[in-house]
Amino acid sequence: MKRRLVSLSGTMVLGLGLGLAHADDIDAAARIAAQRVAVGTCATCHGPQGHSLSPKFPVLAGQHAKYLVAQLQAFKAQTRGDPDALGYMWGMAAPLNEELMTSLADYYSRQTPIAGPTGGAALITRGKDIYQNGDSAAGIPPCGGCHGAAAAGTDDFPRLAGQHVQYVMKQLRSFQNNMRNVAVMHGVARGLQLNDMEAVATYLQALGP
Ligand code: HEC
Ligand code: HEC
Repeated sequence: MKRRLVSLSGTMVLGLGLGLAHADDIDAAARIAAQRVAVGTCATCHGPQGHSLSPKFPVLAGQHAKYLVAQLQAFKAQTRGDPDALGYMWGMAAPLNEELMTSLADYYSRQTPIAGPTGGAALITRGKDIYQNGDSAAGIPPCGGCHGAAAAGTDDFPRLAGQHVQYVMKQLRSFQNNMRNVAVMHGVARGLQLNDMEAVATYLQALGP
């Protein structure tokens, strides 16, 4: 009876450990391998620790790991098909295996995000209004409903705070014309005019962690 209890609690501890582990089950060797690839390869475009300097390349610092893995898988499967995804990331993702994707995502999600440059006040005011309230006449829902009040994102919705204006606008246009084919964001972006895309992107770029 006593032995049975002991082994039962052993199983429970193991089960709990597995349930909680997640990012912590990335071993030291995998972490080092990911850091080497991040510094040696990805940083060329995505910058040191994922703080990309060129607005053509998205900031990865502080992005959610689950979202990052999903994007790397989509590049590898060639289902994220906007022109820059095809031109830059299909080739980058092709040689990555699941373990390296998971540890690269973990690496970037642990980097501290920062606010980007501030843009024009009128754009920010309009952008904040769209972000918080949407535009019901144009059929645009409030962005914050999914991406969070401070645009910090969640496991299921990407972080947008601090992202480059140019990259955000490019993605919104790709969702609109379905080159990046995601039904939910197609619905959101369908009614967005170019000046409103710029406004909401300008608002987002200046947001810090
Ligand atoms: C030669 C430049 C270049 C290199 C090197 C590069 N990337 Fe990218 N990456 C891009 C571009 C450009 C995009 C944006 C694609 C688009 O517009 O859809 C991107 C997008 C991404 C995204 C999607 C981000 C988001 O917010 O949706 C992830 C994740 C990513 N890259 C990870 C990596 C990783 C990991 C590496 C290293 C193995 C890497 N990239 C190397 C250019 C590069
Ligand atoms: C109903 C939920 C929902 C709403 C509302 C929403 N989004 Fe999204 N958004 C998503 C999801 C889900 C994704 C991830 C798409 C994917 O898997 O590629 C996303 C992705 C994005 C991306 C791409 C991020 C990146 O790193 O590439 C941008 C930019 C974006 N949303 C902007 C907005 C803006 C601006 C609004 C408001 C006008 C908005 N979203 C409203 C769900 C939503």
